[in-house]
Amino acid sequence: MALPVVDTEYLKEIDKARRDLRALIACKNCAPIMLRLAWHDAGTYDKNIKTGGPNGSIRNEEEYTHGSNNGLKIAIDFCEEVKAKHPKITYADLYQLAGVVAVEVTGGPSIDFVPGRKDSKVSPEEGRLPDAKKGPRHLRDIFYRMGLSDKDIVALSGGHTLGRAHPERSGFDGPWTKEPLKFDNSYFVELLKGETEGLLKLPTDIALLQDPGFRPYVELYAKDEEAFFRDYAVSHKKLSELGFTPR
Ligand code: HEM
Repeated sequence: MALPVVDTEYLKEIDKARRDLRALIACKNCAPIMLRLAWHDAGTYDKNIKTGGPNGSIRNEEEYTHGSNNGLKIAIDFCEEVKAKHPKITYADLYQLAGVVAVEVTGGPSIDFVPGRKDSKVSPEEGRLPDAKKGPRHLRDIFYRMGLSDKDIVALSGGHTLGRAHPERSGFDGPWTKEPLKFDNSYFVELLKGETEGLLKLPTDIALLQDPGFRPYVELYAKDEEAFFRDYAVSHKKLSELGFTPR
């Protein structure tokens, strides 16, 4: 099913919400956690049974209290400020718009945003998002279940160019890059460099170096930021539209 066509009034609200999100993200410096919110709402998709996905269900207490969503209530509450001003916009659209804006305002590529997602009160069971302690096989199990590819896995992992891990949320600590509020290809540059004091590498980040299906993309994106931006924008759009066919 393609995303339904929305009316012009809704599109106007989307434009206004986009501006409000830009201001909010700049003011609170919260691009990383907004991107993570969009990813965790979408990344529960199961293409075989067609459940989960970018449907706003992460706002349900049952889901934001899943262990992998620790800390994301902060981003949900930020979005609530924008929702209050634009109540017509669904949570599902709002969270994906926040992800797209987070990437843009930190210097990343423009990502095509198509509105029309519906909200769901039904949350998927816990355990659909990737476990950072695991390896390539697990990454493939999780992302293939969403209908995504090896290239998508590597490109989207570049989202770790933004933000950091917090010991009290995930048990991991530190940023991946020296400028965690700048969206660039430094995640891949740092990954290839190896250990750097103060910078984090999750086992799932290291997995991208070890696997022959993943590594060529890491090498490409480290040396060619344009290629990374191009592929990232395509993969992010796919992530934001899981469960819908492109229109
Ligand atoms: C943060 C795991 C993929 C975006 C984190 C954290 C973990 C993690 C453990 C730290 C959370 C915390 O302590 O606050 C993973 C794993 C992935 C993955 C195992 C599998 C490939 C992605 C993808 C994106 C993304 C696809 C977006 C496209 C982020 C961002 C943060 C983050 C922006 C920083 C959040 C903040 O600063 O508050 N991730 N992640 N991650 N992740 Fe991922």
